[in-house]
Amino acid sequence: MSDKFVAAIDQGTTSSRCIIFNQDGAIVAVDQREHRQIFPKPGWVEHDATEIWSKVQAVVAGAIAKAGLRADQLSAMGITNQRETTVVWDRKTGKPVHNAIVWQDTRTAGLCAELGGSDGQDRFRDRTGLPLASYFAGPKALWLLENVSGLRQRAEAGELAFGTIDSWLIWNLTGGTDGGVHVTDVTNAGRTMLMNLESLEWDQSILDAMRIPASMLPEIRSSSEVYGTAVGQLAGVPVASALGDQHAALFGQTCFSVGEAKNTYGTGSFLLLNTGARPVASKSGLLTTMGYQLSGEPPAYCLEGSIAITGALVQWFRDQLGIIREAAEIETLAASVEDNGGAYIVPAFSGLFAPYWRSDARGVVAGLTRYVTKGHLARAVLEATSWQTREVVDAMYKDSGVEITSLKVDGGMTGNNLLMQHQADVLGVPVIRPVVAETTCLGAAYAAGLATGVWSDLDELSAHWKRDAEWTPDMTPEVREREYHNWRKAVQRSFGWVE
Ligand code: G3P
Repeated sequence: MSDKFVAAIDQGTTSSRCIIFNQDGAIVAVDQREHRQIFPKPGWVEHDATEIWSKVQAVVAGAIAKAGLRADQLSAMGITNQRETTVVWDRKTGKPVHNAIVWQDTRTAGLCAELGGSDGQDRFRDRTGLPLASYFAGPKALWLLENVSGLRQRAEAGELAFGTIDSWLIWNLTGGTDGGVHVTDVTNAGRTMLMNLESLEWDQSILDAMRIPASMLPEIRSSSEVYGTAVGQLAGVPVASALGDQHAALFGQTCFSVGEAKNTYGTGSFLLLNTGARPVASKSGLLTTMGYQLSGEPPAYCLEGSIAITGALVQWFRDQLGIIREAAEIETLAASVEDNGGAYIVPAFSGLFAPYWRSDARGVVAGLTRYVTKGHLARAVLEATSWQTREVVDAMYKDSGVEITSLKVDGGMTGNNLLMQHQADVLGVPVIRPVVAETTCLGAAYAAGLATGVWSDLDELSAHWKRDAEWTPDMTPEVREREYHNWRKAVQRSFGWVE
């Protein structure tokens, strides 16, 4: 075993993790803790950013202890994070002025419609690659400025800092009120709807339209460079990467060439296709987004199919309906029946993201008869993930002309064989999981290690990628077409629920 180690913090939607990797890209230790999900109203989702920061400190301490290392043995640390979730804090006290508004939160749907005005949902798409939707961070910041008393004045006086979770963590890691650096990287900045995709700078015309003072914003940097040095338990360790979690997973899957794609199955699922050095505009409901940027180099761009709810539907089935006690039980329950029994679940809990971008959609269960059992519903829960992925893959093909020949997958749900088989069946191509399925943390570690000389170049990283499991399609075209048709009928029924 080699003697250089890199730590990665993955601050996700439901939990925070710290993983320490060795120089071969293998996992040395993992620690993980969940944080509270706060649902103040239907469609609203908040996190306590202070709680997140303490959970992050705890998992860092946990991982270092499990690895039997001292902090000074870490060559670097990297950050990856749930994207779009918005924190505004007071620069003097270091305290958030409100709970963080989570990416799934739909409270800004009306505000987004207002911002679109007569130009509609695509008003800022040419500059940002994104449709106006409640998903993105800029309108969430605007909501805070307009709805929390006194906030606009304090923002205009330069007292407040805005950031996505990466900025919040880097600021705290590097000293917080005592000299913390206020930065973000291009992948996270690109999800605010405030960054210009070509110049990689904040776009003043959008800041004006969204009435967001530039003084609140972090400095935009590459995804792989030393932003600062950690203090506290990690004192002296260079903080050397930041990537939104989906971009980090792309990096960890070593999708460095044009045409390479990955799908990560977490709370939601996010399929990213590397389109190279130029942004490709989407006409099929995908996002144009950053892939990554290494220091001093041109960025790589991606097309992204964002699916809001996949793993979260299994959590809902477990926690809100109580049909299973552990998430893993869903596979056994689903395997107790032959098929979905005619039932389909469209989990439009936060509206529907790609390729529809319908904030008026809400979840539906379609095709119910008295024949349907909880086993059939368990199948419908899992199949919702693979059908939503199929719709995104179809949109990728329409936009890029790239027909995928296999799909690299990662994330918690890839441990579910029945789902992965169904995914291969409905796509009609093999689905492949790498040995290190923790690609999100791995990508952040790789970017931090590249910035600090642990690894020398992308080829060295690509050589680490190894196949662990592969599922090959086993469904007749007739069944696939019939089921896809039924799925799309169910999707149509979710539209227009919110008036
Ligand atoms: O855009 C939201 C995404 O970054 C959240 O990812 O893995 O926390 O569900 P995850």
